Amino acid sequence: MRLRRLQLRNHRNYSQLDLTPGPSLNVFIGANGQGKTNLLEAVSMLALSSSPRARRESELVGPAGPGSRIEAEVESGVTTREIAITLAVEGERTHRTIEVDGVRRRAFDLPGNFRAALFWPDDLGLVKAGPELRRRFLNQMLVQVEPGYARALANLRRVLEQRNSLLKRIAAGEGGEDMLEAWNHELVQVSGEIVAARTRAVAELDPEAARCHAEIASGERLEIQYLAPPQNYAEAVHNSLAEDLRRGTTSLGPHRDDLLVLLDGHDARSYASQGQQRTAVVSLKLAEAGLIERRTGERPVLLLDDVLSELDGERRGALLAEVAAGGQVVITSVEVGPFPRDLIAKAMVWMVSEGRITPCG
Ligand SMILES: Nc1ncnc2c1ncn2[C@@H]1O[C@H](COP(=O)(O)OP(=O)(O)OP(=O)(O)O)[C@@H](O)[C@H]1O
Ligand SMILES: [Mg+2]
Repeated sequence: MRLRRLQLRNHRNYSQLDLTPGPSLNVFIGANGQGKTNLLEAVSMLALSSSPRARRESELVGPAGPGSRIEAEVESGVTTREIAITLAVEGERTHRTIEVDGVRRRAFDLPGNFRAALFWPDDLGLVKAGPELRRRFLNQMLVQVEPGYARALANLRRVLEQRNSLLKRIAAGEGGEDMLEAWNHELVQVSGEIVAARTRAVAELDPEAARCHAEIASGERLEIQYLAPPQNYAEAVHNSLAEDLRRGTTSLGPHRDDLLVLLDGHDARSYASQGQQRTAVVSLKLAEAGLIERRTGERPVLLLDDVLSELDGERRGALLAEVAAGGQVVITSVEVGPFPRDLIAKAMVWMVSEGRITPCG
């Protein structure tokens, strides 16, 4: 997979960008607040259809007008595709239009046309924060490799909304429990699909993440375990009905499950140091890239935002060696200092300043 060309119009602090990245390692250097993360965010949207960080889509639109556009030429095997994501802000609402080769697509049909694995500092929450980020990590990977997964997630959201609103009505005396039956059935079915995909993925990620982590952190032992909903989910949903009615929400299901991240056998959240946590998260992301490559036969573009800070020299070297092993890589940093000279000699280096990008050297 390769990003051949990227054009941004009024996207965050980029008024006009036209970038042709190199086929292997691309290093973007820039001071704080110049647009490095904004660039990676735009590229990751091509893979995921929405921004992994914006709380409101209107945040993405720059000051030059009520709309923005991301346009890209991407190469997958022998096929080249044009992907365009347009945002138009109208009052409180933002309309998003997605096109592939000029044909309108729904958001859940975009993933798969371009695949990327992204690390950015927010991802440190994968170890430190609550389970939502860990579920999002699995989801963002799986929408790119499992046809039907994005649709299953959309179905799960719909079923939960309907079921939760019925729970509240039943609790308020506006109906009987039999009203839930059809929704329980759908919930169990769609959950089964999601949990099966996550179970397979974690079984595949675990040894790969462990290998990457041991490689970068000479011998430290990383392990991940999937904390899935109960085995007999249909029965569990039945048994938790009283609790669900009391709380007005569905207490069990894939919207609640989690990943346990262990370092040398201890919960990494409280046990691992800052640099060790960062190494663990980067290893998970490299394992994600490996999984996408095995499943699709093609390495995703690796997007690494400010990945080197907090890592000691040895970890930086091992990480860069792992990263530079193949495929297209986009990596940002505030300074060029941490990169070994021979690596920089092989890379395309760019300077990012005030929403403009220029080749360096
Ligand atoms: N919609 C927007 N319109 C204009 N500018 C924006 C918009 N959204 C964000 N910005 C600005 O973009 C700038 C660059 O942000 P970005 O996060 O890409 O910086 P960065 O180069 O990654 O910096 P750091 O090294 O601190 O992480 C910020 O100063 C921010 O205020
Ligand atoms: Mg940044």
